[in-house]
Amino acid sequence: MALRETVDIDLELVARLIEREEAVLEPKHRASLEYRAVAERTVAGGVASSWQDAPPHAVFIDRGQGNRIWDIDGNEYIDFHLGYGAMVAGHAHPKIVEAIQRQASRGTHFAQPTKDIDVVGENLADRFGLPLWRFCNSGTEATLEAARLMRAVSGRDMLIKIEGSYHGHHDALMFSVVPDPDLIGERDHPVTVPQVMGIPDAFAELVRVVPFNDLQAVERALDELDGRVAGMIVEPAMMNCGVIMPEPGYLQGLRDLLHVRGAFLAYDEVKTGAALAYGGAVEAFGVTPDIVCLAKAIGGGLPCGAIGATRELFDPVVKGEYDMAGTFNGNPLTMAASRACLTEVLTKDSYDRLNRIHRALAEGCGAAIERTRLPAYVTGMGAKGSVIYSATPVREYRDSIAIDERITYLAWLFQQNRGVFKSPWSKQETWTTSVFHTEDDARRYVENFEEFAAAITR
Ligand SMILES: Cc1ncc(COP(=O)(O)O)c(C=O)c1O
Repeated sequence: MALRETVDIDLELVARLIEREEAVLEPKHRASLEYRAVAERTVAGGVASSWQDAPPHAVFIDRGQGNRIWDIDGNEYIDFHLGYGAMVAGHAHPKIVEAIQRQASRGTHFAQPTKDIDVVGENLADRFGLPLWRFCNSGTEATLEAARLMRAVSGRDMLIKIEGSYHGHHDALMFSVVPDPDLIGERDHPVTVPQVMGIPDAFAELVRVVPFNDLQAVERALDELDGRVAGMIVEPAMMNCGVIMPEPGYLQGLRDLLHVRGAFLAYDEVKTGAALAYGGAVEAFGVTPDIVCLAKAIGGGLPCGAIGATRELFDPVVKGEYDMAGTFNGNPLTMAASRACLTEVLTKDSYDRLNRIHRALAEGCGAAIERTRLPAYVTGMGAKGSVIYSATPVREYRDSIAIDERITYLAWLFQQNRGVFKSPWSKQETWTTSVFHTEDDARRYVENFEEFAAAITR
């Protein structure tokens, strides 16, 4: 059902505007383009991670401070990208810098536990309502351990995941992330589509894909896989095709359905954790799962990851029957940064500020959408928000397929050319804000958005 009357977007106009904006941008990024050619000589593709190479080209960053970053051409941006959402604490926060410097001068790695771990564990237990925690180095490692732990404790092999969710770069869950619409099959029985080459079919056979916000689909999967499901991993609010909120009762329904069948529920809170609210999605939606996977925002900008779970799930780890291990797990530098970030920066009251900035962004963009009758709406809360370019509500990945990536790409170009750095990649018009962002920053974002909305609805 349409939300209200909207205009049709002229995609030829969008294409012309893309050309215009790219032509304006290119000379501003001369140093980035030149440096990339240098890096390409020895670094595959000239970037450290494939997703740093987003259209129109990789932008190399020189430094960051608070809510700002500067690229190597000297362009200054208000940063709404924030390292794919990791920098809710902002860049070079003095408290985190001090904690890192203090620890760096005392040694950066021992592969032995240090005395910050209990403070971080206690803080995470308070936020997410789960009693026990372990640390790792990325969101990928956290969800990998979650998948394995659910299998280990249940003694079952099958996992359920949501179509359109990303859980990191490992073979257990790298399926149906942004699957090609030609390959996804029927909605009632989505095909488990590998995200990249090189994942054996045998892994796909262990993963059942279901649409988000649909309890019946999960019930059907549990019935069909009678007694074989170890657990389900879900982003409690989907963050990788815009921000898609869970419908009332969905998360509670999932937990109930899974528990009745002896299966576990894991939240992937890599993007939502310590970002949507103090206690992430657990607090925001009021349902505590069996496992919470964290990374990004909890590390204050250092490589980090954490997995929290019930005592039942951690029992084999505690008893030494299951090795959850890694040379850099609980690295002292990360733990020091995490401790400062969680206890001194992302404090409970910082979320009032993040919500205030969210309101300014949502109201400003919302008013421009109304005025121009753009087929779009705004979602999100806390540090995360998104404009979704659809006249009808997007409840799951398949609803987002019709969104034309050229529109979100143009929106990115408009912001980039006007001093705002947003996360690259199409269809993910997602912003993150930090404790340093101000109402003036929100206003700048909104003014750029107004210009963009007026240009494409002309
Ligand atoms: C929801 C979600 N889970 C897991 C990951 C993987 O985290 P990392 O890149 O730290 O391995 C990401 C990364 O963007 C993510 O968005």
